[in-house]
Amino acid sequence: MEQEQINVGILGYGIVGSGTYRILCGNAESIAQRAGGPVTVTRVADIDWEREREVMPPQALRSTEATDVINDPNVHIVVETIGGVAPAREYVLEAIRSGKGVVTSNKELMAKHGSEILDAAEEVPVDVEFEGSAGGGIPIIRSLKEGLEGNTIHEVVGILNGTTNYILTRMTEGSESFDDALSEAQKLGYAEADPWADVEGDDAAYKIAILAAIAFGKRINIADVPREGISKISPADIRHASEMGYVIKLLAIAKNAGGQIEVRVHPALVPKSHPLAAVSDVFNAVLVRGDAVGDVMLYGRGAGSLPTGSAVVGDIISIARNIRNGAMGRVVCTCQGHATMKPMGDVETRKYVRMAVRDQPGVMGKIATIFGEEKVSINSVIQKRSEGTVAEIVWETHLVAESAFQAALRRISDLDVVVATSSVIRVQE
Ligand code: HSE
Repeated sequence: MEQEQINVGILGYGIVGSGTYRILCGNAESIAQRAGGPVTVTRVADIDWEREREVMPPQALRSTEATDVINDPNVHIVVETIGGVAPAREYVLEAIRSGKGVVTSNKELMAKHGSEILDAAEEVPVDVEFEGSAGGGIPIIRSLKEGLEGNTIHEVVGILNGTTNYILTRMTEGSESFDDALSEAQKLGYAEADPWADVEGDDAAYKIAILAAIAFGKRINIADVPREGISKISPADIRHASEMGYVIKLLAIAKNAGGQIEVRVHPALVPKSHPLAAVSDVFNAVLVRGDAVGDVMLYGRGAGSLPTGSAVVGDIISIARNIRNGAMGRVVCTCQGHATMKPMGDVETRKYVRMAVRDQPGVMGKIATIFGEEKVSINSVIQKRSEGTVAEIVWETHLVAESAFQAALRRISDLDVVVATSSVIRVQE
């Protein structure tokens, strides 16, 4: 099918939608060259045109009705930058059924309803691209789908949430409290409308579920992704971790361990020499371990108007090329079946444990005995100077399965000499 001009309709003119518009207008010439012809925004829908934005589309393009974009026969590609599941899901499905290519930057939508959306796209068939949904401006999805395709991917580990990385950086470098760092992140506009999706790991879980599906070619049920956030990380943990040679990061981890897939999000002690340890502030990074290539790390801005817009525009150009070549919908999804997930109880990690105990003879021995009986091997132990009658002890274990460790911890917490097991944080290899 020969197309003179590819017309784009945008649903949601917020941070990402407006960035997409700015890039398509500002780089129109080079984009036309790469796409084989002009790519033009002809419709933009948003429910609120009063909000201030840096660049506004001309009045003639604006609408308050998504259906004006979806039902316009002259729109070839629909860009969904609304976010959230409803009404984005319905709009995306409608656009697909109308035979339009779809680009979405919506991580929650793709993580929760990716299978339904890609199945619908395969049926028509049309292209659905979603590079902006994980890692913002970092082209990680295209890298996994194309550049690294020849590899068996063993592992994808990332810092995929800018808000929590910013908070942890402020707590580490500026010794700020969690609450102060969070309100700073909110003031700077990094956090989602509901910051708890960032802080408690949901945002990173959506993103790593999307990446795991592509890396391992298996569909992931988002409900099977355990997640733990950073709200319980205290300045004491950050200080002790630093003394032990670590920084604390919120990691999103996906592993293919002998056919069983492990996908999880939690804070972790990361050795200062690890490439992810140097990723600070609002930046994101993803480390991919392939059998042929070894380690590849991509680093960049995981959010923001122009960075995420960059990913969205890359997707638009790719679909525009396919429309011109009559190749839309040739390869929509490469997943084969659902992943067999490794139960969290079987996942092995090293552990950092900080506990407050009575400062009296025999306490260390009692705790060490329980660890030993439950087959938890200790790598190091540090007792901090006592405050009154209570001492703080920090343990680091060797690799241990989650279930064995939890069994030991339950018994230890029940000891009358243990005042509190203040924190448990996994240690990244
Ligand atoms: N709230 C997200 C973050 C933004 O902090 O990374 C983009 O998904």
